[in-house]
Amino acid sequence: MEVARRILIINGKGGCGKTTIATNLAATLAAGGESIALIDHDHQASAADWVDLRSPKLPRIHLVPAHQMASAYPNHALHLPMSQRAHRVVIDAASAVHHGNMETLLRQADVLLIPIMPSSIDTRAVSKFVTDLLTHKAYRKRPLPLGIIANRVQPGSQAEEKLDHFLRCLDVPNVARFADLPAYCDAAEQGGGIVDIAKTDVELEEAAEWRRLARWIDEQPGLTTMRRANPLRASIKERVAAQRVG
Ligand SMILES: Nc1ncnc2c1ncn2[C@@H]1O[C@H](COP(=O)(O)OP(=O)(O)OP(=O)(O)O)[C@@H](O)[C@H]1O
Ligand SMILES: [Mg+2]
Repeated sequence: MEVARRILIINGKGGCGKTTIATNLAATLAAGGESIALIDHDHQASAADWVDLRSPKLPRIHLVPAHQMASAYPNHALHLPMSQRAHRVVIDAASAVHHGNMETLLRQADVLLIPIMPSSIDTRAVSKFVTDLLTHKAYRKRPLPLGIIANRVQPGSQAEEKLDHFLRCLDVPNVARFADLPAYCDAAEQGGGIVDIAKTDVELEEAAEWRRLARWIDEQPGLTTMRRANPLRASIKERVAAQRVG
């Protein structure tokens, strides 16, 4: 079975942990020996900054700075040589994805992950986002495995209880649950993930949850084969950028 190579982290709500999930997933997969490309679609360039900070002692993660490329969505940024060579491609989407760009992003992904934080503002936003997604023409044409990730959960809190209630009502599987831990910031300062720095019992359990998420992704089918890049279709600027990150 072809594996799900391209994992898109997406949610219209800002600050819910997209970049944290994208970078930690990239770190987890890289620590497992896979060659990883991380595509940053956000003009804030947080994932790109994370790669810049990455310690040379850690397995390399190849950055595709799609946010720097003019018209990155329609110009097949995901088919650039860098992401073609990698076993897995993790895509950090920007919060505001234009309807048309959403279609392009969905066509270029095998699995979708939606982070959610335990707050009523976030659950309302996710509710709307999931409805928009499931009814989107491109998604209905080609449905993808979709998982919700509960992020910044404080175990035993009332907020967690409310989140659980919301997740039980949502018709999308909750595939991972990550705690609100200062270790995420510590790991990000060296361009790493929890898996790279975990020491305490809580952190080791968190690292185990990341590996469980990686296994869930492994179980999902790869729905499409990435097309070979057609160099004539990529602009000169894009090809230069791709070589630079190589
Ligand atoms: N599980 C966590 N524990 C502690 N801090 C976290 C966790 N997840 C995210 N954060 C922190 O929350 C803030 C927002 O996270 P992040 O930047 O990943 O969100 P985002 O969805 O990518 O935001 P944006 O919409 O601006 O791109 C960051 O400071 C990050 O370090
Ligand atoms: Mg972000």
